[in-house]
Amino acid sequence: MNIHEICNGVYYVGVNDRTTHRFEGLWPLPAGVSYNSYIVKGERVALIDTVHVAQSSKFLNRIGEIIGDAAIDYLVINHMEPDHSGSIEAIKAKYPALKIVGNGKTAAMLKGFYGIGSEDVVTVADGDVIDLGGGKTLKFVFTPMVHWPETMMTYVEQDGVLFSGDAFGCFGALNGGVVDSQMDTTPYYPEMYRYYSNIVAKYGQFVQKAIAKFDGVPIRYVCSTHGPVWHDEIARVVDIYSRMARFEGEPGVVVAYASMYGNTEELAETIAAELSRNGVRNIRIYNLSHSDLSMVLADVMRYSGLIIGGPTYNNGLFPEVERLLSALKSREIKNRYVGCFGSGSWAPVSSKNIKASLDCMKVEQVGEPFDMKCAATGADIEACRSLAAAMAARVNGVVE
Ligand code: FEO
Repeated sequence: MNIHEICNGVYYVGVNDRTTHRFEGLWPLPAGVSYNSYIVKGERVALIDTVHVAQSSKFLNRIGEIIGDAAIDYLVINHMEPDHSGSIEAIKAKYPALKIVGNGKTAAMLKGFYGIGSEDVVTVADGDVIDLGGGKTLKFVFTPMVHWPETMMTYVEQDGVLFSGDAFGCFGALNGGVVDSQMDTTPYYPEMYRYYSNIVAKYGQFVQKAIAKFDGVPIRYVCSTHGPVWHDEIARVVDIYSRMARFEGEPGVVVAYASMYGNTEELAETIAAELSRNGVRNIRIYNLSHSDLSMVLADVMRYSGLIIGGPTYNNGLFPEVERLLSALKSREIKNRYVGCFGSGSWAPVSSKNIKASLDCMKVEQVGEPFDMKCAATGADIEACRSLAAAMAARVNGVVE
């Protein structure tokens, strides 16, 4: 038996995935990921979300451990992305009388993904309540684009439990405990920046709206679809999510570079050393050809400064530099100080092209873009110093 009761009548029935290499086929999972699902037991039983299809069998066993031979009356679908909706068919097969609860957009996706018709769906409006009896009600609060259009949250007023969908989630499988008070949560915080920056970052304005909807609402447990259930650390988690949603960075600089033969790398190292000399303590250097984009994005989301550099390639941007710029653009990264540099052996165009991409973003460009020809000269080193000093002044809060 592996029963986790979060509070009276609210149970965890999620599963861990330590097998999948890349979430969404893109983002590495060195510490795995959990797909969280929950049961609320009143006189009637509600299941909140399901899990990835590959884990259906384990999931059904978890549910059986909690409810035995009883039926599930309602399956609430807060989010239709298949990491959470993938076991709907298995659940429906075992509990054919259950009612699926979702909104109008959920219903369309249920049809599209699983061929489930609207006649099988209880369609709710924003603020609707379902009474489970036994002193348990479920209130549905629409939170569109956190992280898909149909996303909603479900609130159990009597216990102050919020089933928040992807919001407040993080990568990292659970290691025995489920609620934050049962574990050392330290490893989950870096994974929160990575999860948010990789998956949710584009929708920051919608995350802000969702957080505002619960302003003043008493919440004792935040039950996300990924990572620990938050109880003791709710304030810290909401603060991190709020700051990320506003693109508010901590003082620090990411130096993200590409280099074919080490010459451009020398410029990156020089810039980082000069940042340090100018008092910047949080500096993260990434070789874009070596480090996964997932890790780079996490620190770009965390820190207020970013310097991008790379060689000219086929008279354009180096592919990995182009990939980073594209990821920043698609996430509509804003409120960052950004500088750039480049290189080339006969006709360098890197910094000009990086700058052209930055011109399309709501970021403050810092320092003078420059290109090194072949290998560094004294003038190139001086340009590195100048760029680093200008960046340090901005991230350290010096007004110019
Ligand atoms: Fe964890 Fe947007 O699904």
